[in-house]
Amino acid sequence: MAKSPPKFDTPNSPQPADLSGGAHITNSSGRPLDDIQNSVTAGPRGPVLQEDYNAFERLAHFNRERVPERVVHAKGVGAQGKFTVTHDITKYTRAKLFAKVGNECEVLARFSTVAGERGSADTARDPRGFSLKFYTEGGNWDMVGNNTPVFFVKDGQKFPDFIHSQKRDPYTNLRSKTVMWDFWSLMPESLHQVLILMSDRGTPYGIRHMHGYSSHTFSLINKDNVRTWVKYHFLTQQGIKNFTDAEANEMAGLDPDFSQHDLVDAITQGNFPQWKLFIQTMPEEDAADYKWNPFDLTKVWPHADYPLQEVGVLELNAIPVNYHAFVEQAAYTPANIVDGMGFSPDKMLQTRILSYPDAHRYRIGVNYDQLPANRNPFATSHYQRDGHMALGNNGGPGVNYYPNSFGGPTEDKTVSDHAYPVEATFVKRYDRNAPGDDDHYTQPGNLFRLMDAKAQEDTIKNIVGHMAGIEGPKKDEIVARQVALWRKVDAKLGAGVAAGLGVSDNGATASSNGKGSHYAPPPPADK
Ligand code: HEM
Repeated sequence: MAKSPPKFDTPNSPQPADLSGGAHITNSSGRPLDDIQNSVTAGPRGPVLQEDYNAFERLAHFNRERVPERVVHAKGVGAQGKFTVTHDITKYTRAKLFAKVGNECEVLARFSTVAGERGSADTARDPRGFSLKFYTEGGNWDMVGNNTPVFFVKDGQKFPDFIHSQKRDPYTNLRSKTVMWDFWSLMPESLHQVLILMSDRGTPYGIRHMHGYSSHTFSLINKDNVRTWVKYHFLTQQGIKNFTDAEANEMAGLDPDFSQHDLVDAITQGNFPQWKLFIQTMPEEDAADYKWNPFDLTKVWPHADYPLQEVGVLELNAIPVNYHAFVEQAAYTPANIVDGMGFSPDKMLQTRILSYPDAHRYRIGVNYDQLPANRNPFATSHYQRDGHMALGNNGGPGVNYYPNSFGGPTEDKTVSDHAYPVEATFVKRYDRNAPGDDDHYTQPGNLFRLMDAKAQEDTIKNIVGHMAGIEGPKKDEIVARQVALWRKVDAKLGAGVAAGLGVSDNGATASSNGKGSHYAPPPPADK
């Protein structure tokens, strides 16, 4: 039976195309086609005619199938599910999601590696992205974190340099351990994250067996406008499980899509992975005097000072019906928070707030929030109009400016971005690592000392294996600089790495100066 025609008088019609619903093939404008396998030719053996528009359309669309891959976190696995509130945190936040124990909302999750391209191996030694989009009443809340509670750098402006050091060398087009360790050894603030990366947590067994962290400090704001600083922790209920370095390397060859397989298999077998959400909270006034800068992304808040409090449970129970629509077109941003939440002065967070929507406008277009993966299912009404691929009716005949006298949507004075104090005296480029903010060693040292003997041994082995890849004329200099940093983190760690690399007290390595190395310095620049 023929489908009833779309009603053009409803607010959102005509609906976006259902590409697989019809009985017959049509061209993209809906005309049924009788043959899409034999192009129109001048005679049975003659050339193809230009007028075969439908064949050309198919090829032209094919040429445009890819959107640019994400500049980082390009390789990703997606799943959908739900979040359920299990504990009352209304004393901290008035966010609608947390208003009542038992509240639920739908979630779109995407997990990723950072440095590899879209086809790279899932088991690479790399942090894992941990992105969640909560479709809440009152707006989407995006938690765009990693499987590590800290990060490599603490000023957003350093991010492109850091990423350049992780991606392909402009000359050799190879990823280079020399370049990675050159950057890290010149950036002591990276030590905490590099230590985690070099532990077996740097090679998690898929995504079901790792934790996820907001890493940044955010705010929660309650009905009385009281602000509490908060960090989010999603703890895996499957238990932590990691690959060893050798297993991860082997799996990269056997099944580069290991994480995708592992998650699809689990969910299609009804084995739904869960994470419990915990928060650490810090009263607003504690921040000024706490021994660690609570807005420094290279630091954690020790649990002994700020214990975990349970909030809810996340369950992933579906694979999105279409990877491109719901995973490739998913657009996460730490800017997506809702009333009852707020940001913090963390410089990295501040940078990310602008960087992500900017990336989405480039990658998938200015109307990215209208795509199914990103559209908030509750009301979204504003005065942004037009632009590439404005979906639906683009606001229809509704008024497109504000203020107006024609009944358009108005400001909601019941919600607000609650202000927070800043101690500004002068506007200038403050040194992020000035005295008081320059202890890059105690926290990673504590982490190393917390590891059991086997984990310490594995970590040292992983560091040695990785640093053994440093080559070329700067080898000794880079190795010596990094070994000195490991010594400052922990004497046993430093000694273990030095011994593993055969580094003498003056920092020279046994195989000196990279002679015989295949690393070639770049040719001289054009005159
Ligand atoms: C992805 C920038 C730091 C987690 C991205 C993307 C950009 C970006 C441009 C690609 C977005 C897209 O095209 O969809 C930055 C900048 C940073 C920064 C400028 C430093 C200021 C961080 C930190 C974390 C993080 C600290 C974790 C705590 C992620 C994740 C994704 C991502 C999980 C993938 C999102 C997805 O699944 O689509 N980042 N990033 N980034 N970033 Fe960052």
